Amino acid sequence: MAKTKTATQFACTDCGYSAGRWFGKCPQCGEFGTLVEEAPADATSAGPKATLRLVDVKAEEAERIPTGVAELDRVLGGGLVPASLVLVGGEPGVGKSTLLLSALAAISKDRRAVLVTGEESSAQVKLRAARLGGAENVEILAATELDVVCATLEQERPDVCVIDSVQTLYSSELGSAPGSVGQVREAAGRLLRVAKESGVATILVGHVTKDGAVAGPRVLEHLVDCVLQFEGDRYHEHRVLRASKNRFGSTNELAVFEMTGTGLVGVPEPSELFGRTVDGEIGAAVGCVLEGSRPLLLEIQALVAPTDLAMPRRVGTGVDPKRLAMIVAVLSRHARIALGQADVFVNVAGGVRIDEPGADLAIALAIVSAAKGAPVKPNVAAFGEIGLTGRLRPATQSERRLEECAKLGLVAAIAPAGTPSRGKMHVLEAETLSQAAKAGIDAERAEPG
Ligand SMILES: Nc1ncnc2c1ncn2[C@@H]1O[C@H](COP(=O)(O)OP(=O)(O)OP(=O)(O)O)[C@@H](O)[C@H]1O
Ligand SMILES: [Mg+2]
Repeated sequence: MAKTKTATQFACTDCGYSAGRWFGKCPQCGEFGTLVEEAPADATSAGPKATLRLVDVKAEEAERIPTGVAELDRVLGGGLVPASLVLVGGEPGVGKSTLLLSALAAISKDRRAVLVTGEESSAQVKLRAARLGGAENVEILAATELDVVCATLEQERPDVCVIDSVQTLYSSELGSAPGSVGQVREAAGRLLRVAKESGVATILVGHVTKDGAVAGPRVLEHLVDCVLQFEGDRYHEHRVLRASKNRFGSTNELAVFEMTGTGLVGVPEPSELFGRTVDGEIGAAVGCVLEGSRPLLLEIQALVAPTDLAMPRRVGTGVDPKRLAMIVAVLSRHARIALGQADVFVNVAGGVRIDEPGADLAIALAIVSAAKGAPVKPNVAAFGEIGLTGRLRPATQSERRLEECAKLGLVAAIAPAGTPSRGKMHVLEAETLSQAAKAGIDAERAEPG
């Protein structure tokens, strides 16, 4: 006899893994107690639909909606695309609500902007709005029921809507609690439909898990057009916003904000802020890193400390641990910097996370400087990828990097051989890591002893 009942599914609230049975530990992400039962979806039968040749498809590039926050526009790829669905993720207290309320305030000047708040009361939002200023025209809907939210949006058809947050929405049709995989997936799916059909550019605020992924199912990231990650430490005033997925623009675009009493203020020249070292300081180097289309100067600090541990520590903040381990290994093997008996700590200024190999050389120089007790030469930046053989590979877009260095008044850059000088910027070409270390370290100013 054929089964008529749809099998119950269990899904992980962290990674979205789904299976036909329950596990105490998620087989995919290894978290405990995250699998929850999901209500089975109704199977709907549908007939065929005519296909269309691309040439017959009518499409015009819709004009983007400027958000009034220049740095946010840049990360979105030049403003908000009408009828798109954007997910903004970030740790609690990082400033998601603040940023989006500022954006809504600017948008509401000549468009309809709605804030759906499930997390804070209307009064709380009003207090924040008063602090930020200019948000009088923002319309507010305090609701958590998905049906209510969707129906309101379909009727009101605002140009832009912010849902703060997607985890608070729930549909009473599903049995599970708000924030569970099923609920979040349902909410995002329904809002996607409303966004596309009613032309509402929708921004979803999402919470993140402890390792930085947007909480709830991974599916959310597949559904939306654009995923923005808001990073940075809530104890420091600088925040970094980056796109990890963007269907309408480049990813890895990055914007820096400063948290002030009147909201988040964009920092148009982050290199100015993060790219300076103190002259003569040991263990600091300036790297020129490409973030999307934007070159960025970053101070990289390293500490090399003797250790008795059998497995010395390699700790990187803002640096990929595998990359750091590789750089340490290449330094030991090809530049004769013995680090086997030392802990190595690396830190990137401003809470920025680097994932571009062009930063390798600056990381290596900071470590060499710390290990040798000699500072990096003043007013010199470095960029270039380090290969496993100790040879340097050219970094992409060297002209743009050199221009950024020149803008900040640096005099020279250490770069892989073959990088042409540009304008007044002098390039100290190096073929190997040890040549680069020789060119970059000011041995005459080494610490005595
Ligand atoms: N009066 C104030 N002056 C300066 N900064 C403030 C003030 N009130 C709040 N902040 C800043 O705003 C931050 C909170 O921002 P916000 O509520 O937008 O974060 P969030 O990402 O929405 O957090 P959650 O996930 O909890 O909703 C605080 O960490 C604090 O730095
Ligand atoms: Mg909030």
